[in-house]
Amino acid sequence: MLALAHSAAMLGIDGYVVRVEADSAAGTPSFSIIGLPDRALAESRDRVRAAIVNSGYRFPAGRVLVNLAPADVKKSGPGFDLPIALALLALDEQLDTLALQRFVSLGELALDGAVQSTRGILPMAIAARNAGFDAIVVPRANAREAALVSGLHVYAIATFHDAVSIALGHGEKFRFVPPERPVADPRRTDADFCDVRGQALAKRALEIAAAGGHNVLMVGPPGCGKTMLARRLPSILPEMSVDEALEVTKIYSVAGLLDDEAGIVTARPFRAPHHTISQVALCGGGSSPRPGEISLAQNGVLFLDEIAEFSRTALEVMRQPLEEGTIAIARAAGTFVYPARFALVASMNPCPCGFRGTRDNDCRCDDAAVAKYVAKLSGPLLDRIDLHVDVARIAYDEMVSRARGEPSAAIRERVLAARAIQAHRYARTAYRTNAATSGADVRRWCALDERASAILRNASLKRHLSARALDRIARVARTIADLAGSTTISDAHVAEAIGYRSLERRGMAA
Ligand SMILES: Nc1ncnc2c1ncn2[C@@H]1O[C@H](COP(=O)(O)OP(=O)(O)O)[C@@H](O)[C@H]1O
Ligand SMILES: [Mg+2]
Ligand SMILES: [Zn+2]
Repeated sequence: MLALAHSAAMLGIDGYVVRVEADSAAGTPSFSIIGLPDRALAESRDRVRAAIVNSGYRFPAGRVLVNLAPADVKKSGPGFDLPIALALLALDEQLDTLALQRFVSLGELALDGAVQSTRGILPMAIAARNAGFDAIVVPRANAREAALVSGLHVYAIATFHDAVSIALGHGEKFRFVPPERPVADPRRTDADFCDVRGQALAKRALEIAAAGGHNVLMVGPPGCGKTMLARRLPSILPEMSVDEALEVTKIYSVAGLLDDEAGIVTARPFRAPHHTISQVALCGGGSSPRPGEISLAQNGVLFLDEIAEFSRTALEVMRQPLEEGTIAIARAAGTFVYPARFALVASMNPCPCGFRGTRDNDCRCDDAAVAKYVAKLSGPLLDRIDLHVDVARIAYDEMVSRARGEPSAAIRERVLAARAIQAHRYARTAYRTNAATSGADVRRWCALDERASAILRNASLKRHLSARALDRIARVARTIADLAGSTTISDAHVAEAIGYRSLERRGMAA
């Protein structure tokens, strides 16, 4: 006797369909499961057995074997209890196994037969639809998330008994129809650049960063507004495309962070992890793997406030995502990747005490301490930051002035125009923004005119700039020219770009 049900599992942020095969043979009663990680096995067995019996059904007699195919992949997630229990009822002919072929089901069972929510529903529902299923049976709390996938009927259940009713053909009352909701305007945010007094240079740097996709480092004493400025970056970024929004929603689904009211994530992520964060929480992983902060920042902003306070290992791990836009998670069963493409915004004090170079210059740090402090930002990390900007404390008069700064909406218009120019320029390439160009492509796409080259050559001789630093300047100059609507990169554009290398000017980095 053989019975078959269908479920789904996750690898990275993608789902795949899992076949749940149940078989029995005469002999001493036993119950084994193949295809789950060892530590999950015993618990799942106990839950399934108790839920079947406590829901008033019979547990099959004899030697019972369940195989989660493909069996060689150890699956993650507690969502297999429900399809296993359904397959066991079919094995015992309390259900028709044919009725289990139409749908994928997911859910962890409690001992009393209640069905508990699980994470990763969105990618698994997408996998079910792509595999040709027309329905999915999920815990009630996950129904709205499953309903984001078009072309899939969603059944929302509270108990194992409900799932059996659906398999017996009484499913209508469990059909989930998502309620109509007004779509929130993703741009609406309380943090607007008009609140920031002064700081023209930092605002300009953030505008360039938003326009060209560049990473930014703000250096300045405590209280000058670095955190305030960074939090306003999302207000000038373009809206996410539908594909970007779906990708972000999948990541939040896998992380278990999608609340059932939210639906699809439309606002660009802004993540600001504290410097005491563990490496797993920052980069992802763990025994039941979840995406970390760098993946939760996908398509949005990762703000590392007080970056010099982060552990050196945490900063080193950022190298791969900054280069490739992904992070590899190594596990006993193999490696998979999570997406991690974000704009990095970092802030730091100029020295451990924070007051080096301020007007009153009351810094108490010696040079060795300052060097050690800055060395934390290793070369590879700094290499991926195109814009360094000094942020000074603003004068009292400016702080108390009533004059409002330029609102985010106006800045955003210029950013969108510069993005449109880039979309046109890179239409036939894999690039989206100037910041992403690398190697020979920088020289191709970000070519300087004659006077601009002369200025750059001059600066490079005076300051011993590396080839990489020259590329960074060229990329930023390209974005500055795009913001000005200029096809050529002129001397003024390059001169401004050179200004955003303040760390090199101070001999802090190569
Ligand atoms: N340029 C500014 N314009 C308006 N308010 C400011 C400015 N700079 C600082 N502030 C005020 O000071 C507070 C602290 O600024 P913050 O951004 O936390 O500084 P930092 O991160 O550089 O230490 C802000 O919440 C804000 O109220
Ligand atoms: Mg701060
Ligand atoms: Zn100091």
